[in-house]
Amino acid sequence: MADKKARLTVDGLEEVIELPVYSGTTGPDVVDVRALTSKGLFTYDPGFVSTAACESSITYIDGAKGVLLHGGYPIEQLAENSDYLEVCFLLLNGELPTPEQKEVFVKTVKNHTMVHEQMTHFFNGFRRDAHPMAIMVAVVGALSAFYHDSWISTMRTTAKCAFRLIAKMPTIAAMCYKYSIGQPFQYPRNELDYADNFLQMMFGNPCEDYVTNPVLAKAMDRIFLLHADHEQNASTSTVRLAGSSGANPFACIASGIAALWGPAHGGANEAVLTMLQEIGDESNIDEFIKRAKDPEDSFRLMGFGHRVYRNFDPRAKVMKQTCDEVLAELGIENDPLLKIAKRLEQIALEDDYFIQRKLYPNVDFYSGIILKAIGIPTNMFTVIFALSRTIGWISHWSEFHSGPNKIGRPRQLYTGPTKRDYEKK
Ligand code: CMC
Repeated sequence: MADKKARLTVDGLEEVIELPVYSGTTGPDVVDVRALTSKGLFTYDPGFVSTAACESSITYIDGAKGVLLHGGYPIEQLAENSDYLEVCFLLLNGELPTPEQKEVFVKTVKNHTMVHEQMTHFFNGFRRDAHPMAIMVAVVGALSAFYHDSWISTMRTTAKCAFRLIAKMPTIAAMCYKYSIGQPFQYPRNELDYADNFLQMMFGNPCEDYVTNPVLAKAMDRIFLLHADHEQNASTSTVRLAGSSGANPFACIASGIAALWGPAHGGANEAVLTMLQEIGDESNIDEFIKRAKDPEDSFRLMGFGHRVYRNFDPRAKVMKQTCDEVLAELGIENDPLLKIAKRLEQIALEDDYFIQRKLYPNVDFYSGIILKAIGIPTNMFTVIFALSRTIGWISHWSEFHSGPNKIGRPRQLYTGPTKRDYEKK
C-alpha cells in the first residue's frame, strides 16, 4: 500500500488529516482523498485538472515530455511497426499478439463486419442531411437492442462485444456517409484489410470496382491507430461513468460518441477544416490569429492546444509525416486550403502568444487535412475519430468491470439558495 503520506491542515479543524499517497509504475503520485468526506470535506477540481478518477494500466501519457504509451509501447513505434488491429489487441489484452493470436483476432473481427439487416431500416428515419455523428450516436446505441447479452460483463461476452464493435463501426460509419449521398450501402469485403475495407465501403459502389490505393489505406490505418486510445479523456471518462451504473456496453459507447462530438474534443478535426474554409485566403490569416489571441473573442485556433500535452502532441508528429505522404501521393501539395493550413501552422508556431501558452498543433490539425485529401467529407471526420476510439472506450469499459468498482458519483460545491419556505409567486 502507500509508503508516503500527505498531511492536510484546514482552518477550523484541529486535527491534521493524513492521506495515503500511492505511486503508479510511472507518472505523478496520487493522493487518496476518499477519507475527506468523513471529515465533512470534498475536493474541488472542475474539469478534473488534477484528479485521477481511476486506476488503469492501458495507456500512459506524459504531457510535458510529449509521451504516449499503449501497454508501455511508444505511439511512434506502434505507428511505424504495427497496425490498428494489432493495437486493438494490445489495448484489450495488455500485450502484443503472437502471429497466431493476431491471425485469429483479425479473422474474428472479419466474422463480425456485417450489421444486422434490420439495422438498415433505422437509417430511413433520418433526414438525408442529418449530421452523421447524430446518426452514429443513435445507431450504435441501437446495437444494444440487438446484443443484450453483452450486458452481463463476463470475460466471454466482453470479448464478443469488443469484436462486434471493432468490426461493425467501420460498416456503420460508411453507412452514415452512403445514406447522406443517397447511394446504396456497400457490404464489407472481408478479403480486404481493415482500413481498405472501410475505404471500399465509403467509396465503392455497385457499378464500379473499388480500386485500392496502398498509400491511402496505410494513411487511414494510421489515423485509426493514432486515435485508438488516450487514457481518461472526456469521452472515455463518459464511457466509464455510464458503465459504472451497469448500463449496456453499446449504450455506454453511444454516450462516448456523444461526448466526443464537441469541438473541444473529437469535433476539432471537423472544426479545423471549417476554420480553414472560413479563413479562405492566406491574406486573412493575420486577422484570425488576432481573433484567437483576443481574450474578448471566443474564437480559438482549432487543432491547436491540448489539455495534457504542453510541449507537443506525439500523435501530431506522426500524423504530419503521413499528411506529407498523402499529399505527395495525390499530387495536391498546392491545394489552397492546405497552403493556408501550412502557413497558419508556421505563424502560430512562431507567435509569442502560442509559444507562451504552449499551444502546438494537435493530432486533429493534420488528420483533418489528410481526411480531406482522401476525399472524406468534413462532417465524417469526427465519425472516423469515433470509429478509431471505440477500441479505447471498450478497453476501458472492460477494465472497469474486471475489478472491484463503484458507481461514479462526483460531489459539488453548492452555491444555490439555502433552505427556504415555498411561497406562491
Ligand atoms: N487558440 C487560442 N487560444 C487558445 C487555444 C486555441 N486553440 N487553446 C487554448 N488557448 C488559450 C486559452 O485562451 C488560455 O489563454 P489565457 O491563459 O490567456 O486565458 C490558455 O490558452 C489555456 O487554455 P485552456 O482553455 O485553459 O486550456 P484547456 O486545457 O482547458 O483546453 C483545449 C484544451 C484542447 C480544449 C483547447 O486548447 C482548445 O480549445 N483547442 C482547440 C480545440 C482542439 O483543437 N481540440 C482538440 C484536442 S486534441 C483531440 C482530442 O484528444 O480530443
